[in-house]
Amino acid sequence: MSMNKSDSDHLLVATGISKSFGRVQALAPLSLTISQGERVALAGPSGSGKTTLLYLLAGIIQPDAGEVFLAGQDLARQRPGKEKAGLVGLIHQQYDLVPHLPVLHNVLAGRLGQWSLFRSMISLVWPQDRQVAEEALAQMGIADKIHERTSHLSGGEQQRVAIARLMVQGCRVILADEPVSSLDPVRADDMLEILTALAGGSGKTLVASSHSPRLMRKHFTRVIGLREGRLEFDVPAAEVTDPVLERLYDLDQSEAAVWGGGN
Ligand SMILES: Nc1ncnc2c1ncn2[C@@H]1O[C@H](COP(=O)(O)OP(=O)(O)OP(=O)(O)O)[C@@H](O)[C@H]1O
Ligand SMILES: [Mg+2]
Repeated sequence: MSMNKSDSDHLLVATGISKSFGRVQALAPLSLTISQGERVALAGPSGSGKTTLLYLLAGIIQPDAGEVFLAGQDLARQRPGKEKAGLVGLIHQQYDLVPHLPVLHNVLAGRLGQWSLFRSMISLVWPQDRQVAEEALAQMGIADKIHERTSHLSGGEQQRVAIARLMVQGCRVILADEPVSSLDPVRADDMLEILTALAGGSGKTLVASSHSPRLMRKHFTRVIGLREGRLEFDVPAAEVTDPVLERLYDLDQSEAAVWGGGN
């Protein structure tokens, strides 16, 4: 794929995208430009539209109005397949792994976009590109789990499988929906370090929802605040002070003290 400056400066462009579900406006019209290499945190209370925005950016759901461009290409015109898989990959709030399959097969699902249907079917019996999966799992520190039934893994290990799947997919933009919500603080740091290394190391871009002020400031370059489907702020991570977040989450002083001191 050819790359020029404007391509990397405007890797992801959303123009006036909005989304309603019935009478609920999940996202009011919103425009957004994200450059290659940016690490963007999405903050906001439950129901503020974070998952909806990530799904729109991933092309999993279509906006009611507006468009999403990825590397200059209109996402709505992009069929699922090799080209789209090379652009954007998503880690769901629930990791979306197939529990009864071995780890190896779940990792190689990241390759599906690049394979023919025939090759994908064959892979269910004889995994293709096995070495690629082995390398990704080794990088995640769980090489020994390759033949384990995925449901036998701990939550943190399953998360690593989901990231290994993203590694073999080789996309340019990584979208992650609350990737550390089920992890303790130390593991949350590890996970974000892995994600940001994956994003930073190979020119990838990261957009992840998070509720933790500490993690936002430590791992991200920019924070977008959503509230009731509206964009409240879009600022460098260093400018996201506790009062700014307390206002976004509508916390009173006593709640803020507990919350700010934890994660
Ligand atoms: N498929 C759907 N059908 C109906 N309503 C939906 C659907 N998806 C989202 N919504 C509604 O849209 C709003 C935004 O939801 P969304 O899941 O984007 O919030 P969120 O910020 O990700 O919340 P959380 O922090 O709890 O994950 C909510 O009011 C939600 O109930
Ligand atoms: Mg959500």
